[in-house]
Amino acid sequence: MPGNIVLIGFMGSGKTTVGRLLARDLGWSFLDTDTMVEERLGLPVKEIFAREGEEFFREVEKEAVARVATARQAVIATGGGAVLCGVNVQLLREGNKVVWLQVRPETALKRAGLDDSRPLLQGREPRDIAALLRRREPYYAFADIYIDTDGKEAAAVAREIKEALKAWLESLT
Ligand code: S3P
Repeated sequence: MPGNIVLIGFMGSGKTTVGRLLARDLGWSFLDTDTMVEERLGLPVKEIFAREGEEFFREVEKEAVARVATARQAVIATGGGAVLCGVNVQLLREGNKVVWLQVRPETALKRAGLDDSRPLLQGREPRDIAALLRRREPYYAFADIYIDTDGKEAAAVAREIKEALKAWLESLT
């Protein structure tokens, strides 16, 4: 059984920060599909969107998901839109625990809207972000567990995930 923990959720939900902490705590490796796409193309995500467009980004993201799906006991952070693709969802849930990090749009904007690294947030009004988040929610709902991240430090969220997956983690050893 692959036995990975897969973090899904909207931009700014803390997947990368929480994932790193959780991986360190468990002594597992940490994988991040956005980073893998960036390394593969030698460009930051925003440049990939600007030069090649979102569709191209999604194709390379699919390859990254296929690669992380072969991992064993890793914490995997996915890009917020990775679950829009059904094939990705199948690969990510197979033998793994999927955790949805939930976030309110205002919090997502506060955490992720400050820098310009996320093309889908650029130039958007708060109400557009809220609408995008609402459209995304059904795609995150397949997760095994949901964790509310609002008002919580990343370390507290990581602890909560570990606690929620205690029995499953014990079953792996
Ligand atoms: C995206 C989320 C981003 C990145 C890209 C598209 C999305 O990742 O993959 O900008 O469609 O939600 P994060 O969720 O890590 O910000």
